[in-house]
Amino acid sequence: MRIFIDTANLKEIKEAADMGLLDGVTTNPSLVAKEGYKDFKDLLIKICEIVDGDISAEVVSTTCNEIVKEAKELASIHKNIVIKIPLIKEGLKAVKILSSEGIKTNVTLCFSPSQAVLAAKAGAYLVSPFVGRLDDISHNGMELISQIVTIYGNYGFNTQVLVASVRHPLHFVEAAMMGADVCTLPFKVLEQLVKHPLTDIGLKKFLEDWDKLKKS
Ligand code: E4P
Repeated sequence: MRIFIDTANLKEIKEAADMGLLDGVTTNPSLVAKEGYKDFKDLLIKICEIVDGDISAEVVSTTCNEIVKEAKELASIHKNIVIKIPLIKEGLKAVKILSSEGIKTNVTLCFSPSQAVLAAKAGAYLVSPFVGRLDDISHNGMELISQIVTIYGNYGFNTQVLVASVRHPLHFVEAAMMGADVCTLPFKVLEQLVKHPLTDIGLKKFLEDWDKLKKS
């Protein structure tokens, strides 16, 4: 399973990249706004300099023609840019056009298996089902991942399943168990994945014992 980081914060991206396990980055307009970046293009260039992998950049247009235009501008910034497009009718039309021209797309805001089928039929490179936001309204987000993985397997769709809106480490573990292709993690969850209390206790004891040996 590929691991992406779900942030527009350059410090977090750099730190995750330094861990040597980052395969890409996902951003969205809210994440960019949170960091206060006004120059989106400059931000994307900086991210692409840090991470050599898929970098998702989201369009803010909502009609097919405008989405295609915006997508082409974003795609021209760097070869690793993947265009994030909302799962609406106009978005699907744009995905069809862009995929036929070899531009990679990440269809975002996916909340149902039927929407995921449409994204695959349109030729999406990635589809982003939002598990946390479904959990938030008492639906089982991970069940959606299981359904999409099964359906894509049934028909041999090439679209990769990117688990998005991750809230905690169990989402990550279940995504891996289900065979999802990618999981995008907030920096906090990435840190939580590393941590285990028995690792900390074990390391403390090893170092103390070593210290005792040296002093004896
Ligand atoms: C990433 O592709 C999504 O935009 C992101 O995971 C959404 O996360 P949220 O539901 O925590 O805002």
